[in-house]
Amino acid sequence: MSESNIESILQEKRVFNPPQKFADHAAVRSMTEYQKLYNLAEQDPAGFWAKLAEKELHWFKRWGKTLDWQPPFAKWFVNGKINISYNCLDRHLTTQRRDKPALIWEGEPGDSRILTYAQLHQEVCQMANAIKQLGVKKGDRVGIYMPMIPEAAIAMLACARIGAAHSVVFGGFSAEALKSRLQDAEAKLVITADGGWRKDKIVPLKDAVDQAIALDVPTVQNVLVVQRTQQEIAMQPGRDHWWHELKAEVSSNCPAEQMDSEDLLFILYTSGTTGKPKGVVHTTGGYNLYTHMTFKWTFDIKEDDVYWCTADVGWITGHSYIVYGPLSNGATTVMYEGAPRPSNPGCFWDVVEKYQVTIFYTAPTAIRAFIKMGDEHPNRRELSSLRLLGTVGEPINPEAWIWYHRVIGGERCPIVDTWWQTETGGFMLTPLPGATPTKPGSATLPFPGIVADVVDLGGNPVGENQGGYLVIKHPWPSMMRTVYKDDDRFRRTYWEHIPPKDGKYLYFAGDGARKDEDGYFWVMGRVDDVMNISGHRLGTMEVESALVSHPAVAEAAVVSRPDEVKGEDVYAFVILNGTHASSDELKQELKQHVVKEIGAIARPGEIRFTDALPKTRSGKIIRRFLRNLAAGEELVGDVSTMEDLSVLDQLRQG
Ligand code: WTA
Repeated sequence: MSESNIESILQEKRVFNPPQKFADHAAVRSMTEYQKLYNLAEQDPAGFWAKLAEKELHWFKRWGKTLDWQPPFAKWFVNGKINISYNCLDRHLTTQRRDKPALIWEGEPGDSRILTYAQLHQEVCQMANAIKQLGVKKGDRVGIYMPMIPEAAIAMLACARIGAAHSVVFGGFSAEALKSRLQDAEAKLVITADGGWRKDKIVPLKDAVDQAIALDVPTVQNVLVVQRTQQEIAMQPGRDHWWHELKAEVSSNCPAEQMDSEDLLFILYTSGTTGKPKGVVHTTGGYNLYTHMTFKWTFDIKEDDVYWCTADVGWITGHSYIVYGPLSNGATTVMYEGAPRPSNPGCFWDVVEKYQVTIFYTAPTAIRAFIKMGDEHPNRRELSSLRLLGTVGEPINPEAWIWYHRVIGGERCPIVDTWWQTETGGFMLTPLPGATPTKPGSATLPFPGIVADVVDLGGNPVGENQGGYLVIKHPWPSMMRTVYKDDDRFRRTYWEHIPPKDGKYLYFAGDGARKDEDGYFWVMGRVDDVMNISGHRLGTMEVESALVSHPAVAEAAVVSRPDEVKGEDVYAFVILNGTHASSDELKQELKQHVVKEIGAIARPGEIRFTDALPKTRSGKIIRRFLRNLAAGEELVGDVSTMEDLSVLDQLRQG
């Protein structure tokens, strides 16, 4: 976050009470009610969740023990039998929801589809049978590399239905990034599309899958291809199959597999502090319950709501709050393929108007981009259907919050600023919109059942308004279970950074925060080597590895610098190999190389060639100084540990 953002968040004092009209009809309608729930959960967490699990979900067989906690490994609803696809689909079919729109989809070129619960169920069953026919069995892993089309959700639900774990890879990742994720997951099948629409261009997804497999993913036996853009693509006989052809052959009867509560539901790769992304493991029962409850209470969902989350299904937000949370609640979820683009800066507001969206959930970076595009775009549309707004992905600067509240929400919609992570599965800190007074820039208070705190490195709570590390003190149902195939990394990254306190394990989130005089949490951003570029997580080491894989690069150090719209932008310091001379062409080539290795989200905004990097005597790069330099600020901190002070002068002179 930039200095000015931090400044404005530190000074923010405004409080917005839930509008009375909203609170009157909300599920949780006062702070007294919130406090009651919170206390109930704190006194008896297992009992609290068990009661909700019984009431809110369908179980084929009841569990035994609610929580088995062998720190840092948790099991929830032990030996219970459940299927999340059943909870998202089948159980609604015997109710009035059968013919209610489950998924409203709008394509970027303006085409659209509406699938009722009955129709979505049928398509999911068909895809489940198709992937079974392609040899996928319970326990196998399936890669999903899709544009934002209904089949992306259908593919996830089809995997869940037969007990195969999905690993969705964001369609903006490159073939190289796709390869390493498919390799790590040992995917047997990949579900993709010929292409997808993104900012008036076709993204050639199937080509990338071909390249990834050719690069070395021997486990992939088949590729299932959805026809979306209809451009020419190569189909390898025997390996590649068109979805519309298989669909015509398979039955639409496919009972949901009875899964163990702790069976693997999905792996989702996310960036960490090393070059290698982590496979975050989520299992079935606890994830189903927690995403269900957080969706229900945080969005205060009503039967006739039309809910739209603008994330991509390739991220956790898409998993938990486009697909599983909304469908488990029988809600109508909107999915939009496109993004605001010069040819259509008002496209989001058209979607709100066209489908009478009532709940809208997006990222601060998008809000800042809307502000830049001008108020005339939202002002020209009818947005009065909206009743609740949400944000996620990064700290929201109060100016953006106020604009969102005024221009999009017409000053009548509460805003839920939800803090959470791929690892947490669902919201951790969030207002409940009918109860919690909000403060612009604060994710407010923990969801009932979540015990959060701000501590120092020794695990001791810090004082009021003191900065520290955000931790969670008690296991919760949708917590990640481990790093795929790497229990040790799981333990080291999340549970040992801050040592257990009095025998109690603290989950270390990697974020800095403070708690104010009302107990409100203010998340300040990452404290590790993870950047947040337009709300997307990206490891500095990942970009560094991409850069040094180019033959011209001897060494690279990557930091982020503040960016008005993206929040942060990638800034790379590069030392070239002796034989290569610096030039603008080479800069462009290196930027392109990073795009090829990771994807467009990682493209450095700036590359600076240098002869040396500031290092400690033991050879560690001092990123703090590089961050100051990248932001054009004075160097802060102690220089006495530096090996060679002249490096700084050189870098300062640029
Ligand atoms: C950041 C996205 C402040 C935070 C759901 C976290 C936030 C990382 C917020 C997780 C918020 C997310 N306020 N910061 N409301 N929401 N973050 O795994 O740094 O893609 O650790 O999950 O995003 O990113 P991830």
